[in-house]
Amino acid sequence: MLTHIKELFQGDVVGKFAYPAFNTINLETTLGIIAAAEEVGVPIILETSEGAIKYAGLTTMFEMMATLAVKAKVPIALHMDHGKDVEQLKQGIELGYSSAMIDHSQSTFEDNVRDTKELVEFAHAEGAWVQGEIGKIRGTEDWVSVSEAGALLTDPEEAELYVEATKVDTLACSFGTVHGIIKMNGEAEAHVDVNRIKEVYDRVKLPLVLHGASGVPEEVIAQAIANGIAIINIDTELRIAYSKALRQSLLDQPQEVDPRKIMKPVIEAVKNAAIIKLKQFKTQKIVSLN
Ligand code: G3H
Ligand code: 13P
Ligand code: ZN
Repeated sequence: MLTHIKELFQGDVVGKFAYPAFNTINLETTLGIIAAAEEVGVPIILETSEGAIKYAGLTTMFEMMATLAVKAKVPIALHMDHGKDVEQLKQGIELGYSSAMIDHSQSTFEDNVRDTKELVEFAHAEGAWVQGEIGKIRGTEDWVSVSEAGALLTDPEEAELYVEATKVDTLACSFGTVHGIIKMNGEAEAHVDVNRIKEVYDRVKLPLVLHGASGVPEEVIAQAIANGIAIINIDTELRIAYSKALRQSLLDQPQEVDPRKIMKPVIEAVKNAAIIKLKQFKTQKIVSLN
């Protein structure tokens, strides 16, 4: 069932478990993710980045996800991930995404607050939630040493000021993780500053979002959840599962020309990768919704 993200936070979530926010870019990834949620029997967040929207189109992605979510046996909330373009975020909210992330933390604090407030006013009037970002969550291209990275981490005091000024509903912070494949192929270690998560949570008391979470070890995920992380963004692990399975499927069926048969094991691989995350995050049902 298609669900507003706020419904997922009706019960006791923070400190106990996290919802995955899985990035999707196409039908097969979406089918795999939803099959995983149905098999485990828990709600999830499905999200699209600006890159996914550029690839497939805003309306195409929204309608595809919403159609599948309506039919799904578990609650599914739709979210716009890493939005730099405020006008596109507004269009998405008008279409029906119940949550949108504004990614303006590379701007000055003042500009980030101004732009976030603009989106929050629009979103709240439409009944949608906004995820703000404070601190600079790095991408693969921004890889620096852990000590240099310290300067990019979220300052808890700044997080409190940002939340007070903007009234965001969820908050993405830089706790030391990095987006993309770099930490999955042994080039760099994923680092999570768990004490900082607690410091930020104690000040803002909002569901905190951990980005760049692919490859973060299960025990670190458990500590992050215990200290306030309630949404965990995963893209790269699903991309890896997808690409490996696709390569294998083509090798296994060299004569096959029916893409549906080629893609079947790919959907299954995405599903299995997503199930691992749902178990690690201890994602639970919301009793009032089930
Ligand atoms: O955090 C970003 C997501 O992994 C989306 O990546 O911009 O390549 O679609 P993308
Ligand atoms: P990964 O690249 O670690 O999967 O992070 C995804 C993410 O943060 C999407 O917003
Ligand atoms: Zn992210």
